Amino acid sequence: MFNFNLYKEKLSTDVIGQSIQYYPELDSTNTKAWELISENAENGTVVITENQTKGRGRQANKWISTQGKSLTFSIIIYPNALPSQINIYSLIAGLAITDCLNTYDIQAQLKWPNDILISGKKVGGILCESKISGGVIKSMVIGIGLNVNENIKEFPEDLRNNVTSLMIESGKRSQLEELLANIINHLEHRIQDKDDTQIIDWEERCAHLNQKVTFHSGNEIVIGVFKGLSSTGQAIISKDGKEVIFDSGEILEIDD
Ligand code: BTN
Repeated sequence: MFNFNLYKEKLSTDVIGQSIQYYPELDSTNTKAWELISENAENGTVVITENQTKGRGRQANKWISTQGKSLTFSIIIYPNALPSQINIYSLIAGLAITDCLNTYDIQAQLKWPNDILISGKKVGGILCESKISGGVIKSMVIGIGLNVNENIKEFPEDLRNNVTSLMIESGKRSQLEELLANIINHLEHRIQDKDDTQIIDWEERCAHLNQKVTFHSGNEIVIGVFKGLSSTGQAIISKDGKEVIFDSGEILEIDD
């Protein structure tokens, strides 16, 4: 059961997370968030479940989570921003999660566009979906999955070499409601941040800056050096002396 009192006690935002919808079980919090948007959900509404049964990942992947051991939640926002800003929102979500983990002395890194890694293993992922209308991003759902209190045996056997949880890395169990509130506090701060350090901060936390990567975009596999981000968060990859910019894609391998 979700401890609303603990969550509210730790939440220090003006907007994001002030409205929270908790469900003991859902197929996908992102799917539920879109349903709530069609019913005019408030800006900043958070949708969370203890048991997500059909979690959706990027590139049509599945997101598998263990009941009651991880965070699976989505945030509804109405950005009214230019479509060129879409990538920035998902990068900001990754930054907010790593900001939060830093406060627990956990150093996490980012893999483009928005995987959260600890010691090179995936601890979290972000699925950002948006609807554009009239030339602006009208609505956006930022879906976050974070492995928190799982032990290694709770992950599917074929993933065990590549995934981790906060407990495996830190040896400590976390209170899910407190962690959720802290992530949301950092997210609101990052969204409001006028200093515009997002790109620099993201590059500093990148797990593969200036490293050779195998990159998959559309039908193309590109092997090149990841040079950083454009001002709107696209990936810049250098290949055969030329810099190529990618809007979407997936890093399949980091060659170190
Ligand atoms: C990825 O790494 O491919 C992104 C994973 C995103 C998973 C989260 S869990 C909460 C939200 N609801 C979903 O169905 N997916 C996202």
